[in-house]
Amino acid sequence: MSTPPKVNHQRRNLVIGTAAAGGAAGLAAVVPFVDSMMPSERAKAMGAPVEVDIANIAPGERLTVEWQGKPVWILHRTKEQIDSVAKSDDLVVDPGVEQAQQPSTLTGNKLRAQKPEFFVAVGVCTHLGCSPVFQAESDRFYCPCHGSKFDLAGRVYKGVPAPLNLVVPDYVFLSDSKLLIGTDKKEG
Ligand code: FES
Repeated sequence: MSTPPKVNHQRRNLVIGTAAAGGAAGLAAVVPFVDSMMPSERAKAMGAPVEVDIANIAPGERLTVEWQGKPVWILHRTKEQIDSVAKSDDLVVDPGVEQAQQPSTLTGNKLRAQKPEFFVAVGVCTHLGCSPVFQAESDRFYCPCHGSKFDLAGRVYKGVPAPLNLVVPDYVFLSDSKLLIGTDKKEG
């Protein structure tokens, strides 16, 4: 068995985009800029798929990009983080992943991912829209607004205000190092 990758906790969170770290309030601030963009730029900001280079996301790190004005996380899960999902089955509302919060192809997929090591999710709490923080030490995401918790597949914990799992958007791997978020089809 190979040695598990080392996680550099100083570099766990990478952010790309103008408002990815700001939650709903921060995102609202980018809207006026969208109005001043060229049509093609505007289309991209408002909903076109976003291509992301995932080659440099080290195991244990999370990259945040912006898509449709929302933060989208790409967490490169370590083997331990992948294993943590199975261990949280008893803690979550929807252990079998039956809620319609991901593309239908991932229904029933406990890791809620096309590749186990890459978890892609919209980083917006399903309670009132705050942006949860990544608590790597506890293998979960935690929403500071009202205390909702989600496991590392975005499955919501029992007994918290958020009613639903985090949303997994459509996405497609263009290659091992390129991800296209916002569509299930490779373009071109
Ligand atoms: Fe996340 Fe309320 S907005 S718990």
